[in-house]
Amino acid sequence: MNIGIDQLHFHIPNYYLDLAVLAEHNGVDLSKYHKGIGQEKMSVASHDEDIVTLAANAAAPLLTDLKQRNSIDTLLFATESGIDQSKAAGLYLHSLLDLPSNCRILEVKQACYSATASLQLACDHIARQPNKKVLVIASDIARYDLGTPAEATQGAGAVALLISANPRLVSIDPISGKYSEDVMDFWRPNYRKTALVDGKYSAQMYLKALKHAWQDYQDQGGHPFNHFSHFCYHLPFSKMGVKAHQQLAKHSQNPINPDQIEDGMRYNRLIGNSYTASLYFALSSLLDHRDDLAKQNIAFFSYGSGCVGEFFSGQVQPNYQQHRHRQSHQHQLTHRQSLDYATYQHYWHNPEPSDGSTIELPQQNHARYRLAKLSQHKRHYQKNP
Ligand code: HMG
Repeated sequence: MNIGIDQLHFHIPNYYLDLAVLAEHNGVDLSKYHKGIGQEKMSVASHDEDIVTLAANAAAPLLTDLKQRNSIDTLLFATESGIDQSKAAGLYLHSLLDLPSNCRILEVKQACYSATASLQLACDHIARQPNKKVLVIASDIARYDLGTPAEATQGAGAVALLISANPRLVSIDPISGKYSEDVMDFWRPNYRKTALVDGKYSAQMYLKALKHAWQDYQDQGGHPFNHFSHFCYHLPFSKMGVKAHQQLAKHSQNPINPDQIEDGMRYNRLIGNSYTASLYFALSSLLDHRDDLAKQNIAFFSYGSGCVGEFFSGQVQPNYQQHRHRQSHQHQLTHRQSLDYATYQHYWHNPEPSDGSTIELPQQNHARYRLAKLSQHKRHYQKNP
């Protein structure tokens, strides 16, 4: 039985910072961003957006069919920008999206890797109960301290994946290769709003995890390098994907063809790092930019600092072109507003009252779902008409 990604839709904030603005403000040569890390723009969340509104806006178009919505018995919410230490962010989605009451909901964390863990757990669940569906959501707002080298690798966005039997987009193969190690390359203690990172070390760990996950994938009986027409990588910045692919090709003694990765990196260059969602923006970018993928085999590498890496694979389904949400994705990207540096900095500083006082949030996000108010230690969401 084929199991995998039946539908995929993403949502990004309505605002972005052109890295030319950041380069000028930080006195950095723009070619360092464009060529050195391979990034052009980064998504910026406004004050009335958070991981819940991004997720709700990503998932809503997948839930218009009532029968489909009622067959979702599990919601896995992958994030590392959690809004509560106890309550799972997916519970807010339960009411915003009218999900059935007999649906189990939990939040899953392991840096940028947790959406892949969720996808694999969802596939295992569907293997036991093929008539059910699982909603996997990856939603994150990546923030580093202003003025640091990592600042140019921020971003934000959510990807919603509907996992089912007989998927219409991409089936996921059962074999995967894994690598875990306890390291401090990137982390965010509970008292911090922004991540701490040992940037160069994190890139080394990414490549080390790729090498070992690939080896484990081979040991488990996985396909050889030349079985795959395309490779999707976790993309903290697109140059990381280029380096990863160079290493993998060299290690497996295969020639590099830029076509294997190029289309998967297009969205990331314009969105930035969206942590858990980043690999699935890469898949979306690949599916949206090509019409010739039916029956092609795709390789995936997921990396989450700390660290876990997983190498896995899938096959694009016939007629996937009719089931992708390309129009919505490209509409969002072409209708965003560019920010000046002062407004970017204003949005970067989220109002977060820790004494329970009330803050009404002015409407900056015009998507369907927004965060309207913080009051008495609670978040109040609103559905725009
Ligand atoms: P940096 O110190 O500013 O950059 O930080 P650099 O000096 O190393 O330069 C970057 C590249 O630009 C280099 O190329 C330079 O040569 C080049 P490379 O040697 O790497 O090929 N360069 C130029 N190119 C053209 N024209 C110029 C120019 N100047 C320099 N004028 C760093 C870069 C990525 C470390 C920083 O942005 C950072 O710390 N980012 C955050 C951490 C990160 O993204 N790590 C990636 C792996 S870990 C991961 O993916 C997990 C993560 O998503 C988190 C999670 O799992 O939750 C981050």
